[in-house]
Amino acid sequence: MERRKITARSITAMKGREKIAMITAYDYPTAKLADAAGVDGILVGDSLGMVVLGLENTLGVTLTDMLIHVAAVARAKPKALVVADMPFMTYETGPRDALRNAAKLVRAGAEAVKPEGGQEIFDVVEKLVKYGIPVMGHVGLNPQRVLSLGGFRMMGKTEEQAKKVIEDVKALEEAGAFAVVIEFVPASVAKAATESVKIPTICIGAGPYCDGQILVLHDVIGLSERPPSFAKRYADVAAAIRNAVANYVEEVKKGVFPSADHYRD
Ligand code: KIV
Repeated sequence: MERRKITARSITAMKGREKIAMITAYDYPTAKLADAAGVDGILVGDSLGMVVLGLENTLGVTLTDMLIHVAAVARAKPKALVVADMPFMTYETGPRDALRNAAKLVRAGAEAVKPEGGQEIFDVVEKLVKYGIPVMGHVGLNPQRVLSLGGFRMMGKTEEQAKKVIEDVKALEEAGAFAVVIEFVPASVAKAATESVKIPTICIGAGPYCDGQILVLHDVIGLSERPPSFAKRYADVAAAIRNAVANYVEEVKKGVFPSADHYRD
């Protein structure tokens, strides 16, 4: 039976019924493969800066970068929901800028957008939702705040921080978000946050008590140089690529490739 198209509304409706499995993808072939594998949502994450473009963090990712990658993923026509990250400083400057920039992502093929932050972006989320753009929140560790945090640190460890994570999730629900990513907080904090709202929480490095999980594709397939400790590697694609290319190089050097199968006289 052909899978039905997954929408932001269907993701919300999965809370309490079925765990939500999301993964990132940044291009046409991996979006096709992830979709065929049955993911519920594909995030075109600004993590692409680190795992694809070789940047130190996500701050250098531009809206133009995102538009190219969102369009590539959308061309795969996945049944999974396509969510696009809003890059650094494309929404913090206010709801009008956020709306203009989110609209560009939607025109490129995004079916929802994800800005980072909680209570401080309430008006941004409210505006986007009001004008028909589904918003996925992102609280806990916000990688776009790496400079002020001094690194990619676990959040929610103190009572004050834990309270903030929960209040942020509640604020995002109130502003109209259809789901919230919770990144790198203690499992007990993610559990409390999950139980405090009706929208699903989708966790990364935040334990098993959430409504779903999300991981970065390159961490899952063994293509990241520095995967975080909370990621799980399910394949060693780096080794597969290295071996394939090394075999090719060897065959070219030895004159084995191209053989008769690969050319015509
Ligand atoms: O950019 C990204 O890949 C993300 C995930 C880590 C949730 O935001």
